[in-house]
Amino acid sequence: MPDILIGTFQISNQKEMNLIIKTAIEAGVCGFDTAPSYGTESFLGNSISSAIKEGLTKREDIFIQDKIDAKQMYWCKKKGIKSFVLNQIEKLHATYLDALLIHWPFSQYINETWNEMVLMQEKGYVKTIGVCNLDKRGFESMFKKNGLNNVDIVQNEISPLNTDQYNTDFFRSKNFIIQAYSPFCRMNKMITDDVGLKQIASKVCSDIGQVILKWHIQNGIHPIFMSKKPERIKNNLKLDFELSKQQMDYINNMNQDYKIFPISHGCPGY
Ligand SMILES: NC(=O)c1ccc[n+]([C@@H]2O[C@H](COP(=O)([O-])OP(=O)(O)OC[C@H]3O[C@@H](n4cnc5c(N)ncnc54)[C@H](OP(=O)(O)O)[C@@H]3O)[C@@H](O)[C@H]2O)c1
Repeated sequence: MPDILIGTFQISNQKEMNLIIKTAIEAGVCGFDTAPSYGTESFLGNSISSAIKEGLTKREDIFIQDKIDAKQMYWCKKKGIKSFVLNQIEKLHATYLDALLIHWPFSQYINETWNEMVLMQEKGYVKTIGVCNLDKRGFESMFKKNGLNNVDIVQNEISPLNTDQYNTDFFRSKNFIIQAYSPFCRMNKMITDDVGLKQIASKVCSDIGQVILKWHIQNGIHPIFMSKKPERIKNNLKLDFELSKQQMDYINNMNQDYKIFPISHGCPGY
């Protein structure tokens, strides 16, 4: 699992994707996150293929992560998910996925979907499997209670404004790989205006984006960030510095339980 992944939500055309993927690979990032609902799988597959053809990388060095959306969970009972996943793999011009995650864990469809994902993993179509938007309560009521095992990855919204300490500590204790989506909280004003963050950046690097990515990594979390600006991608990835304990504590204490995607009872993370 690469330290950092690039997200592809909101990338709207092939040209934009080519630029982002080429920039990321040249800057040393080889992990990419997509989902059926982003509509970016084909763009991502084409861009990775181009990068491989240009000799910038090899398939085995790339980490491709895709998801199962609510729609596929709903259809899973009737049709299964195998043909859908094979189609995703084809769209990505791959022969396997490095990771396949449930996007939103709707409890009424979780058993069938997860059991099929385990089968896809056993058959080698996907290397690792996981869930997004999962909290401890959701894990216990859906996975533990139903005897669903094999969780490799949990992907949650984690940022300085939502450190999600309680759930993160729990998943860490289970040795799950923890990924943070929206790791900058989309550069909310509470982050960009924060004087302490700016001070840290002025001491150890050049920009708060770098500070936040480093904070995630030093916390043992894999951030998935997005930028459409090549210069930002390159600069965000200049991470040859360390944050001190005091600097880590400062960011850990910025928590306000502020989320872009709120929680509901129907689906623990939604
Ligand atoms: N599993 C889920 O439910 C879920 C939900 C949401 C997202 N995700 C994944 O997480 C990925 C990233 O999430 P996200 O896009 O919501 O949030 P994000 O990465 O926290 O924020 C992206 C925003 O930050 C800006 N940005 C990046 N670097 C910056 C910098 N150094 N200075 C100032 N602004 C900067 C970008 O603007 P510019 O483009 O202008 O640079 C963009 O508007 C998505 O692409 C997707 O793959 C998953």
